[in-house]
Amino acid sequence: MVPTTFPRHLWPLSTHLFQRRLWLGRYDLFELGQRLGTPVYVYDLPTLDHMISAYRHGLQFWPGQGLITFASKAWLSLPLVQLLTWRGLGLDVVSEGELEIARLGGMDGEKIHLHGNNKSLALLTKAIAVGVGAIVVDNLQELALLERLSLTKPQRLWLRLNPDLMAATHAYRQTGHYGSKFGLTWEEAQEAVQRIVANEHLMLTGLHTHIGSQLFEFEPILKAFERLIDLAAWIQRRFGLSIRYISPGGGLGVAYHPQDPKRELFPLVRDLCVFAARSWRQRLGESFPILVLEPGRSLIARAGMALYSVGNIRYLSNGERIIAVDGGLSDNSRPALYGAKYTTVLARDPLGEPVGPARIVGPLCESGDFLIKSVMLPEVQPGDVLAIPVSGAYQLSMASNYNGMLRPSVFLHTRATLIPMQRREQFEDLWRRDVLLPEKPMV
Ligand SMILES: Cc1ncc(COP(=O)(O)O)c(C=O)c1O
Repeated sequence: MVPTTFPRHLWPLSTHLFQRRLWLGRYDLFELGQRLGTPVYVYDLPTLDHMISAYRHGLQFWPGQGLITFASKAWLSLPLVQLLTWRGLGLDVVSEGELEIARLGGMDGEKIHLHGNNKSLALLTKAIAVGVGAIVVDNLQELALLERLSLTKPQRLWLRLNPDLMAATHAYRQTGHYGSKFGLTWEEAQEAVQRIVANEHLMLTGLHTHIGSQLFEFEPILKAFERLIDLAAWIQRRFGLSIRYISPGGGLGVAYHPQDPKRELFPLVRDLCVFAARSWRQRLGESFPILVLEPGRSLIARAGMALYSVGNIRYLSNGERIIAVDGGLSDNSRPALYGAKYTTVLARDPLGEPVGPARIVGPLCESGDFLIKSVMLPEVQPGDVLAIPVSGAYQLSMASNYNGMLRPSVFLHTRATLIPMQRREQFEDLWRRDVLLPEKPMV
């Protein structure tokens, strides 16, 4: 439990220790937290670029072309879309809101594909108008909706197969088993193929699957991929049609805590590509489709860190401290939702001698409002800054205004400077949508 060394692999690449303090590049994080105000999230661009490179290099082991499309559910904002666009990535979106942000951020419609298990007519219509690269058909009702649309040019579709595989992850993150709400069964996928092939306005261009998130082994993903290969082989046999895109989704896991498995991203992606290529070659030969990887967490989680300020500290008779900070469930619901385990350090003394366990809680009216159940920390004072690493994914995108909390500001750290990405919410944002009643309603 005692942090004798600094778990560097959890922190952004620009993080370092100097004069006993924690720094991000040339920024002392204790001072930064005080200067910017907390809670604040900082994304480290060198780390994000490192992860993109890991995917790029890994994809070179797939004999065909490779594409990285970021799963925007992990976190989406206009400046992030700009960064991803400039780096040539695509985006996976699931809602009209995500689609709007993607377009406004400058992402080419061609590079967007649309997911979702309950796409509305409005969403499908918007996606078609935008010219998305593909709509990923999740179920047969959705296909029926698409069949009824009057399309002026053929709409490119992928099919999302539910391979009926149970991924080793939290139940809420399993998406590829029979009981899941996502994807077509094998029989449904076959029916969908036949209906699409028979429809001159629809064009089948890709096959997709995604069995879950925060997976540490690529073998289950590979197994799901082999089901896609089976389907591609069946389509080729039956209709003489070659699939242009194939995607095993995202899902590669990241370490959040020193005790989590430590996995380098590049070898995982490389091995996935090598084995996927072997399986494809065995069944379908040398004509490889474009492999689309859809990472969210593994691309962006480690790039982000959260800074909080310490407020009240409660000392329990068992020696435990309950340290209250100025954020919690409202900006990071993962501990409450999945029992996610994080670590933290005191920014002004990250290697300080621990004096005992501490629970890190937020200011919200819920006992489920905690960030960390137990972490060894040195003496902590009100006003201290705690830094939590691996905060870049599925935190801000699930943030809320519970208890009137303002969502945090977000900055981008480049090698030279800090650039604002999102301002902190203001109080006016809390009631911007409210409509005052014109008069006292009669009862
Ligand atoms: C269809 C799809 N693709 C990609 C992802 C990204 O997963 P991860 O963030 O684990 O890489 C998700 C997330 O659940 C998803 O539903």
